Amino acid sequence: MEVKTSLLDNMIGVGDMVLLEPLSEDSFLENLKKRFDHNEIYTYIGSVVISMNPYRSLPIYSPEKVEEYRNRNFYELSPHIYALADEAYRSLRDQDKDQCILITGESGSGKTEASKLVMSYVAAVCGKGQEVNKVKEQLLQSNPVLEAFGNAKTVRNDNSSRFGKYMDIEFDFKGDPLGGVISNYLLEKSRVVKQPRGERNFHIFYQLLSGASDDTLKKLKLDRDFSKYNYLSLDSAVVNGLDDATSFRTVKNAMQIVGFMEDEIRSVLELVAAVLKLGNIEFKPESRCNDTDESRVRDKNDLKEMCELLGIEQTVLERAFSYRTVEAKLEKVSTTLNVAQAYYARDALAKNLYSRLFSWLVTRINESIKAQTKSRHKVMGVLDIYGFEIFEKADNSFEQFIINYCNEKLQQIFIELTLREEQEEYIREGIEWTNIEYFNNAVICDLIENNQNGIMAMLDEECLRPGTVTDETFLDKLNTVCAEHQHFESRLSKNSKFLNDHSLPHSCFRIQHYAGKVLYCVEGFVDKNNDLLYRDLSQAMFKATHSLMKELFPEGNPSKVNLKRPPTAGSQFKSSVGTLMKNLQTKNPNYIRCIKPNDKKAAHIFTASLVCHQVRYLGLMENVRVRRAGYAFRQPYGPCLERYKMLCKRTWPHWRGPAREGVEVLMADLQVPTEEFSYGRSKIFIRNPRTLFFLEERRRQCLQDLATLIQKIYRGWKCRTHFLLLKKSQVVVAAWYRRYAQQKKYQRIKSATTVVQSYARGWQARKLLRELKHQKRCEEAVTTIAAYWHGTQARTELRRLKQEVRNKHAVTVIWAYWQGTQARRELRKLKEEARRKHAVAVIWACWQGLKVRREYRKFFRANAGKKIYNFTIQRIMQKYFLGVKSGLPSMSPVDKNWPARPYRFLDAAHAQLRSIFHLWRCKKYRSQFSQERKAVYQEKLEASELFKDKKSLYPSSVSQPFKGDYLEISKNPKYQKLNSCVEEKVLLADVVNKINRANGKGASRILLLTKKNVVLADQKTGQVKASVALPDLISVSVSTQNDGFFALKLKEGSASAVKGDFLLSSEHLIETITKLHHIGSTASDDGEQLDINISDEFLVQFKQDKVCVKFIQAAPKNGNSASCKRKNNRLLEVSVPAATA
Ligand SMILES: Nc1ncnc2c1ncn2[C@@H]1O[C@H](COP(=O)(O)OP(=O)(O)O)[C@@H](O)[C@H]1O
Ligand SMILES: [Mg+2]
Repeated sequence: MEVKTSLLDNMIGVGDMVLLEPLSEDSFLENLKKRFDHNEIYTYIGSVVISMNPYRSLPIYSPEKVEEYRNRNFYELSPHIYALADEAYRSLRDQDKDQCILITGESGSGKTEASKLVMSYVAAVCGKGQEVNKVKEQLLQSNPVLEAFGNAKTVRNDNSSRFGKYMDIEFDFKGDPLGGVISNYLLEKSRVVKQPRGERNFHIFYQLLSGASDDTLKKLKLDRDFSKYNYLSLDSAVVNGLDDATSFRTVKNAMQIVGFMEDEIRSVLELVAAVLKLGNIEFKPESRCNDTDESRVRDKNDLKEMCELLGIEQTVLERAFSYRTVEAKLEKVSTTLNVAQAYYARDALAKNLYSRLFSWLVTRINESIKAQTKSRHKVMGVLDIYGFEIFEKADNSFEQFIINYCNEKLQQIFIELTLREEQEEYIREGIEWTNIEYFNNAVICDLIENNQNGIMAMLDEECLRPGTVTDETFLDKLNTVCAEHQHFESRLSKNSKFLNDHSLPHSCFRIQHYAGKVLYCVEGFVDKNNDLLYRDLSQAMFKATHSLMKELFPEGNPSKVNLKRPPTAGSQFKSSVGTLMKNLQTKNPNYIRCIKPNDKKAAHIFTASLVCHQVRYLGLMENVRVRRAGYAFRQPYGPCLERYKMLCKRTWPHWRGPAREGVEVLMADLQVPTEEFSYGRSKIFIRNPRTLFFLEERRRQCLQDLATLIQKIYRGWKCRTHFLLLKKSQVVVAAWYRRYAQQKKYQRIKSATTVVQSYARGWQARKLLRELKHQKRCEEAVTTIAAYWHGTQARTELRRLKQEVRNKHAVTVIWAYWQGTQARRELRKLKEEARRKHAVAVIWACWQGLKVRREYRKFFRANAGKKIYNFTIQRIMQKYFLGVKSGLPSMSPVDKNWPARPYRFLDAAHAQLRSIFHLWRCKKYRSQFSQERKAVYQEKLEASELFKDKKSLYPSSVSQPFKGDYLEISKNPKYQKLNSCVEEKVLLADVVNKINRANGKGASRILLLTKKNVVLADQKTGQVKASVALPDLISVSVSTQNDGFFALKLKEGSASAVKGDFLLSSEHLIETITKLHHIGSTASDDGEQLDINISDEFLVQFKQDKVCVKFIQAAPKNGNSASCKRKNNRLLEVSVPAATA
């Protein structure tokens, strides 16, 4: 169960000063001290947190603590800075209100630590994830970087922030951090060149010299020795508890995490080194003729090194330390600088360089941590600004004036916002509001910042005025202008009241701040406000090749010379404070007011006077009073009822209705006077702490009574349970014991019984044994006597029987002989009779068989023969057909196989079946033919009809496919021309031998055959030699032999027949003639067939001559081809080599 505690529980003193009773400064301090002594460093004034610096680490910032305070109401737990951070974060996330956390207090009071605690708490409770964690890490790591460059050891604080810092952390709607923006205010740059006694320069100088590697130092031309640098004070260079070397590494690491590039880090360190070098440049006077001194650099070594480091021309810088150019509108006047002015110029350069570097760092960090998205942000601002500073005597200067002005403004905004908040709450809750008087410090702000006659305006006016201007003239001016102001005091003012006030030196003025009177010494006001850097120096810096250096001094750019004076330090600060105030006013404020318990930075010491002073100037008492002016305490109804419900019987232990009604019943029951409290909309408001303490006291008593009651009931319950337990145990123990005793007794009785039993049984047994033995002996005696007697009897009988048996045997033997003789005689008789009977049966059977066979033969001849014959024939045919079926040959038409016939009488059928099968498979084969194949076969068929058994060349042509176009005339480019002459499709193209009509020699020609013509063309040129129209062709003649000669006979008188018939020879004779025959018969209109004449002698018409072509057989010579020869006018002989077998 969650244990709920409250602000009011375990109170050391009071956790909320508003409840302090009676309220006085003493009781206030007393309460603070009491709490401080018990390590309670946080105390509330309403929603404001007072934080006392413990100067030692307390175990109250652990992750467990963070968890404890996470999502808890502000007053639920004892006061803590986490409660404030949680409240702010939750109202930012859940109610979408921008927040600002204002941390004030004097130097060393723990402001910076508080701001870090707030940031780390928010980082711990807000969202997680890779991106978010990176943002958080960058935001957190910006702190060490800024602290190294902006913090220093002072007498008040070893890590005192010497600049004001305001950081806006931006969140998205889920409450995850997106990024941040840091604003810095007025770095105390005078520290760069001079540090008060017991204080140090900014940390980074010491960190660099202690922590950088030898190599880095060498590159920066530095030595690891503080004493070598004029700008570093020596008396407290080493600070207890500060490890500069480690810090240097931390800072470098932080810079990397924040996103600085390696070369950026190097540039920054180079500038830091340059500042150190600058401090070492010294000047000596050199007299000039007109009695004035002109400064010269004493030892140029440091100057040289610095110039090398930054890439500045040494002579340019040297000149800038000796001369000053004043530019008016048209002219330039150069004046020399004396030694003092040179030192002033050097220091001004160092201060400017360092403070600009610091501002650049802030800008650079902002670049890294700025939110990446443009969506609407919620903002939590954390303001850690220097607190009110009052030095003893008249050590307060321009810086303190500026700082205190800033605090004055913060106080004003504090008053405005707290009162407004208070007022708004009453209105929200519907409580009547009575106005509260409080001190308004607007009048002091006005004294400082008024544009007409404010101190800052006067200072600016003095700085801009021509003529001699000194701090004294400034004071004079103040004395006249501000004399009447009730918060301004000066010895020489018109207000004679202070004429004799010796605590007020002549060179000072005093302002009555809200937090007390502060004496300011005017010395340095004008200079510091002017913040003058000679233009020659800024121009020299701009000329540097070091890019960062150049960037820091943009006004040194000669092309952008601006003759207007830059704004004064005071006016710059005023405007940035103005912006800050405007920014803060738009946000919901949360206050942390830091108090420092002692001046020794020591734990456990509470210096009352010091604390009292801070309490006064922080206006804490007023804060409490304002808070109490209305109602001291308020609490939502729910928690209130929960806390006090035990004070009334009607609300204890449970109140079922609404919480407000419960509280009303409670208050009525307790008879609290009605003027002591008011009912708001969601809270009850209690006017006096007294009433609250009354309630608390009643609650405490009631809790005691309740505790007693609970104790009583608990004790009773405990005793009763204990008794019942004892009783129950006793019954169990008794039962067990009884059982045990009975068991024992039973076993004893049981064993005794067994013993008695065994004795009795033994006695009985022995008695029985005796009786049985006696009986046995009697029986044995009787048996023996009977045996003897029976023996005698038996032997007598045996003798008698033996005699009898002997007699009987003799009779039997005799009888057996007699019987045997009888039986043999009978057997012989029976055998004789049986033989006779058998003979009769055999004779009868033969006779019967004869009769039956004779009968059956008659019947068989009439029917059975025919049936058997038919059946046999049927069986034979069946077997035959099945045999044929299983033995069928393949489906190839050329397969000659056929099964052998089984019976001669089936010869005809067998042959018939064979031809049917062959016809059928031929049909099957033909049915698979494509159209082209069919045409080819038709041609082949035609060839066979023409030449089979007529010409002996025919058989060799059967296996050759008819290709037709042997020359591929349409594809071959060689015959393109020829192809174009022929109009129809070429059906045959082949090379033939044309026989010369005169001498019978052959010449190669191309023969083309189309549907209408036979064309002969030159083989080489493709030129058409002759074209014969098919109707002009009468017949074709060929021999019966193995040759390829053929003669084309033409119609007499036709155009093609001029030279006579053609005698040609072709290797594809059969094909050529078949095609010719086929075309001739289809081409002729009257269906007349082209004659094919096959004979070994035929006539041809050569011009006028009729020549006989005769084919003769000859022995093969010159290969196998036939040769042709014109024998005479009438005869042309063709000798054909005889076909080789
Ligand atoms: N809550 C704290 N717990 C422990 N030490 C603290 C705490 N607050 C401040 N200190 C100590 O006081 C010193 C000064 O605190 P710091 O925040 O720098 O003061 P300020 O910023 O107000 O000048 C710190 O260096 C630290 O040693
Ligand atoms: Mg600080």
